[in-house]
Amino acid sequence: MSAHSTVVSPAIEPVVVAKNLRQVYRISRGMFHPADHLQAVSGVSFTVNPGKTLAVVGESGCGKSTLARMVSLIEIPTAGELQLGKVDVVKASTKERHALRRSVQLVFQNPFGSLNPRKKIGAILESPLEINTDLSAAERAEKARAMLALVGLRPEHYDRYPHMFSGGQRQRIAIARALMLRPGLIVADEPVSALDVSIQAQVLNLLADLQQELGLAYLFISHDLGVVRHIAHDVLVMYLGHAVEQGDKKVLFAQPLHPYTQALLASTPGIVGTGTSKQRIVLKGELPSPLNPPSGCVFSTRCPHVTAQCQSERPELRELAGRQVACHLAEQFIQPAALQH
Ligand SMILES: Nc1ncnc2c1ncn2[C@@H]1O[C@H](COP(=O)(O)OP(=O)(O)OP(=O)(O)O)[C@@H](O)[C@H]1O
Ligand SMILES: [Mg+2]
Repeated sequence: MSAHSTVVSPAIEPVVVAKNLRQVYRISRGMFHPADHLQAVSGVSFTVNPGKTLAVVGESGCGKSTLARMVSLIEIPTAGELQLGKVDVVKASTKERHALRRSVQLVFQNPFGSLNPRKKIGAILESPLEINTDLSAAERAEKARAMLALVGLRPEHYDRYPHMFSGGQRQRIAIARALMLRPGLIVADEPVSALDVSIQAQVLNLLADLQQELGLAYLFISHDLGVVRHIAHDVLVMYLGHAVEQGDKKVLFAQPLHPYTQALLASTPGIVGTGTSKQRIVLKGELPSPLNPPSGCVFSTRCPHVTAQCQSERPELRELAGRQVACHLAEQFIQPAALQH
């Protein structure tokens, strides 16, 4: 690393800016019934800057993967704005979207399913270069070997097949493949959820190192706040397709103001929030169907603090105590003493 003699601080260009992003799925109910519309993501906004990680958390079905699919251009949002670099994905032409695909790469939960079992690791890593660049075979091989080293694998792994690796190593291969085209953004959908806890830490450390080294931005999806605590700079908490609380990780973890964030934190072993979340809050009841979300606050059917207002009036996301929160009662969870630390 070279030291810079002059410090120029250009304005940071976000890698992703999402505004009021929506994804609605049409669910057919047969010929004689009108189709249902499922709001998988109902107006979510966020920014991801270079070198930073935004973690998206929430229970199964809250819309995390749908968000991941939109940001990685697998699905086009139904509405809203999605800016990747300087391009608005929603308005872009197919050709422009195609060009953008290189800049965003995905890493999935199951590295075995996403690696072709009949290809050697070298070929797996070189395939994106073969499709997208004019590099010669020798140049591609050189880049693949350099990437193996970067993700902590050995040169001899180049000639092996995916089944010869452990889960953690396979995830390293998936990360290596995602990096071959030098994207600015990695969308990682539960990348360590299928791994043993000890291996999870190694892969998370690798992701953190790569972020530092390459200035990568991550959209990191996880249902596990224990994992998020290690990797995130910012956190977006989703419930039934809505953002209920979002902001700086330290602020949210120190004093969650949405009862859903409080419940998530309280149910995560090893994390004890300060203030209100100290008592263990157990989430009661079933997650409602996104086809029939509660009127009023989406969390109202399971919230221990629910009032009549919560049942009738949906709270907007608003700025409060250094983060954004969508709860009518959020003020009552602020503890001035805890905020001073
Ligand atoms: N292609 C689709 N067609 C119809 N509904 C869909 C489709 N994809 C997702 N859904 C629905 O959208 C909602 C959000 O799903 P999504 O997969 O984004 O949730 P998730 O937060 O990733 O959940 P998990 O933690 O289980 O992976 C769910 O109710 C799901 O059933
Ligand atoms: Mg998912």
